[in-house]
Amino acid sequence: MSILFHCPWHNNKEWLEVIKKQFKNKKIYILKDKPDLSKIECAIIWNISNHTLSKMSNVKILFSLGAGVDHITELKSYRGQPIIRLKDPFMAERMANHVLSQILFYQLNLKSFQEAQLINKWMNKYDEPALNNNMIIGILGVGYLGSFVGKQLQRYGYNIIGFKNSKPNVKYSFPVFYKKISLKKFLRQCDVLICILPSTSETHHMIDGNFLQEMKKKALLINVGRGSTLYEKSLMTHLKKYKQFYASLDVFEKEPLPKSSPLWKFSNVTVTPHIGSLTVVDTAVKYMFKKYQKYKKNGKIKNDVNLLKGY
Ligand code: GLV
Repeated sequence: MSILFHCPWHNNKEWLEVIKKQFKNKKIYILKDKPDLSKIECAIIWNISNHTLSKMSNVKILFSLGAGVDHITELKSYRGQPIIRLKDPFMAERMANHVLSQILFYQLNLKSFQEAQLINKWMNKYDEPALNNNMIIGILGVGYLGSFVGKQLQRYGYNIIGFKNSKPNVKYSFPVFYKKISLKKFLRQCDVLICILPSTSETHHMIDGNFLQEMKKKALLINVGRGSTLYEKSLMTHLKKYKQFYASLDVFEKEPLPKSSPLWKFSNVTVTPHIGSLTVVDTAVKYMFKKYQKYKKNGKIKNDVNLLKGY
């Protein structure tokens, strides 16, 4: 039995090297090697095709190369095999850094100074930036990454509130709303809303025109979860109407964001290419190897994904 590695990222050679080193005595295949897929026991993957997964009839463990698992669960041939997702403190740190950078860019009006610099203009008229303790930051989706981000932002003195779709069963360092009827109450308070939701049928286009209407007209929306959560058409209508509304988008309905997308041209939008929480190769491979050893020892491993919830 052997291992399949599939990764479409630019650094896939580095990944393969580190995996081969860590999984020393194992045969590691990539699709180009044309392995017998029915003999694959374990797959380390990102964006594998439905066809390939369907051929892996004996696969026992699927490692996601990221925190998200929708690239596997949304495949028709996924039959509930255990998925191990990455839970890496370095990825969480990267996410927190990214989010903080977007908050500060907005809060300190840095865009206006960048624009002024382009025309050699010393700006002597500007809005005074809000103080951290006067801002409420909402986190939509308080899982591993969301709760870490909230905790970090609290250290800077921001007021944090969270929202999740079921009753919290862990303790958070900030208040968490969870009832559907309290979503509006949550949204109305946010000066900044950070969306770190997974892609499920429930979150699909959750952020639509009605949702946006509940938010303050001057606010920042950061989407670092999944593009499917945000209905881009409604967002664009909202951004045209409310010029003080700003969106920082790292994920999109279609990725890469098509060159023809009007989103590129909005002055109240920042586009980043899905880099919010890049996977750290070394720690990720160590994490996967540890899980692999556990699976080998026990002969089975628990699925990180709740199949009913879909994440
Ligand atoms: C990135 O989107 C990830 O799921 O890690």
